[in-house]
Amino acid sequence: MSIIYDHERGIIKLDTPRTSYIMALADGKWLGHIYYGPRVESSDVVWVLELDRRPFTPDTLPREAASFADCFPWEYPVANDGDFRLPCLAVRNTAGQTACRAVFRSAEIMAGKPALDGLPATFGEDCDTVKIVLSDGSVDAELYYTAFHGLDVITRSVRIVNRSDNRVWLDRALSTCLHLPCEDTRLLTLSGSWAREHIMTTREIGHGIQGCGSTRGIGGHQDHPFLALLSADATQYSGEVWAMHLIWSGSFTAQVERDQFDGLRAVIGIHPDTFCWQLEPGDAFQAPEAVLTYSGSGLEGMTHTLHDLYRAHLIRDVKKLRPVLINNWEATFFDFDENKLLNIAREASKHGVDLFVLDDGWFGTRDTDSGSLGDWTVDRRKLPNGLDGLARRLDEMGMGLGLWMEPEMISTNSNLYRTHPDWVMRTASEEPLLCRDQYVLDLSRSEVEEYLWSRIAETLRSAPIRYLKWDMNRPLTNLGSAALPPDRQGEVSYRYVLALYRLQERLRREFPDLLLENCCSGGGRFDPGMLYFSPQIWCSDDNDAVERLAIQEGTALLYPLSTIGAHVSACPSGIVNRITPLTTRAAVAMAGTFGYELDATKLPAEELAQLSEQVAQYKSFQPLLQNGDYYRLSSARESNLDAWMIVCHDKGEAVITAVRILAQPNVRPRPLRLRGLDPNIVYQDKSSHKHYRGDVLMNIGFPLSFEEGDFQSTVVELKKVGQKMKHSP
Ligand code: DGJ
Repeated sequence: MSIIYDHERGIIKLDTPRTSYIMALADGKWLGHIYYGPRVESSDVVWVLELDRRPFTPDTLPREAASFADCFPWEYPVANDGDFRLPCLAVRNTAGQTACRAVFRSAEIMAGKPALDGLPATFGEDCDTVKIVLSDGSVDAELYYTAFHGLDVITRSVRIVNRSDNRVWLDRALSTCLHLPCEDTRLLTLSGSWAREHIMTTREIGHGIQGCGSTRGIGGHQDHPFLALLSADATQYSGEVWAMHLIWSGSFTAQVERDQFDGLRAVIGIHPDTFCWQLEPGDAFQAPEAVLTYSGSGLEGMTHTLHDLYRAHLIRDVKKLRPVLINNWEATFFDFDENKLLNIAREASKHGVDLFVLDDGWFGTRDTDSGSLGDWTVDRRKLPNGLDGLARRLDEMGMGLGLWMEPEMISTNSNLYRTHPDWVMRTASEEPLLCRDQYVLDLSRSEVEEYLWSRIAETLRSAPIRYLKWDMNRPLTNLGSAALPPDRQGEVSYRYVLALYRLQERLRREFPDLLLENCCSGGGRFDPGMLYFSPQIWCSDDNDAVERLAIQEGTALLYPLSTIGAHVSACPSGIVNRITPLTTRAAVAMAGTFGYELDATKLPAEELAQLSEQVAQYKSFQPLLQNGDYYRLSSARESNLDAWMIVCHDKGEAVITAVRILAQPNVRPRPLRLRGLDPNIVYQDKSSHKHYRGDVLMNIGFPLSFEEGDFQSTVVELKKVGQKMKHSP
């Protein structure tokens, strides 16, 4: 067992291979956080709570109860009970008062890990869980902590149960809380905007509250449900990192507060501003799961742990090799017919591309983005032979068909809207706000969920569709549902996400061979929750190879490359009008689920000639990319060189990609120091056939060379050719 409950000392301790997480009871009833960090073997650590130091000590209770409450490191802090820092739980009763007290009741250790009701979560049997119950007799907070055996991860989730005879309202039910001493710790978040997702942003932690969040009903492009606290000396490869990542696809808050004693409290969970849940007697509310990890080896350690966790315990079908696809969105937008599509597909098929993805515009009469969402019937003007006819013609070329849908939306110019205007998510008093000329469907209504399922299932059954791109192109505004009573309006956003999860789970069950890719105007809903349903997610609408470097660096900080949707698009890129070489666009897209998003019939002959080689190269190292360990070597955020590598588990193979941003006069590229290799293995560089020992590559480096000009790149493939004795030359 990796968890102990020491009754005598009142200590609960979870151990992972290199970390320990420790909680302790004060006065036998208050659960406090003691420690999360490098593994310690002893559990004789209650002294850390400093309970014998006046004035705010239990022995001065009850006289100093409020002062005690405001300095105690509560494991799961409640609102309006003397602790003025960020709370996790706020419970309102029928008297209209926020009142709840979290008194320790029990701790029970079990093998494995229970599933979360209605929510995606990590899974697996090689783990242990402790369930801790805090309660004031009327409301229980069940805290679940899981320690995975081979991984430095603790997952936490919370279930709130109403044990009273009266209903209560949860105004806040966050998933996790962590206390650390400040010691010049910095805060790292992933921030940005549309076409600029997941940009790594680090800042000092000042007094008060800071962090990130979303009330958009989705995680959004602007912030990510993640935060990391970095020790002052933390770098890519060294120093301490504590990270929190939420397995959730709706509004969230991720905050850290530096308090009056220079302590840090970090919390993560559903954003309370757009949330209130009515809990009937006997009912339970499930808050999403949070992943915690501690790394003593900088960001790299955090990345490896999260990649390993998500590949082994969150993403289903992670090992299946993905098809190389061509998507018609940037090639045609809405302006296409069957012939045009087939011409693009035919050209791509000659180069080994496996799948043709038909994007937006195939249904209703959707010639612009102003109509037809909700009317999922084939537009016969564009596709006279339907999806089935298109699939047959593609099949003759040896290609599969993939399809785009945006099920959660409704256009005012649609039959669906004319029939069911009441299905729009809105408040009763205000006109809802349009965004991209569309409204959001009120998925909290079961008839809407059922309608969507019937449209999705019928579409997928109408033709042999192998891949579905599930898009979502606007935030949720005007939260309200005509189907819910007034005291349940605060539930709309949570119910929406639950219905989305149910639909996607049903997809997995009823179409087990379908490859699902989630998308949200690029990476607006790239989160661990969606990853549970789809092994890959479209990462950004920005396909410019240089812009993509920072976007993909931030994404790969948390997610394996096998999850990152990345395509080669035409040049200049429509987003920033930059011209980059096709080789670089391909090299960057190969750090993801590789594909093309351009009109292959329009490529100049010399570029077209590169396609076969690119596809073959990607396919040759795709298993390595999907399963290997990722190392960040250099970042364009800090230098003129962006570089990363992937090494397979047995260290026998590696692929390195380097992009030099600008050409510079009279500068010789320095050898690039590699990581993760076996120092004693001799590797051969596939293109030059030269041999290098692992220790040389990691300490002296690999000699990079680039073509002349800006934005040049190189992809190096290394293979083991032999193993040298430790001291041989
Ligand atoms: C937004 C997506 O991110 C794009 O890839 C494309 O599918 C468009 N929507 C289509 O409307």
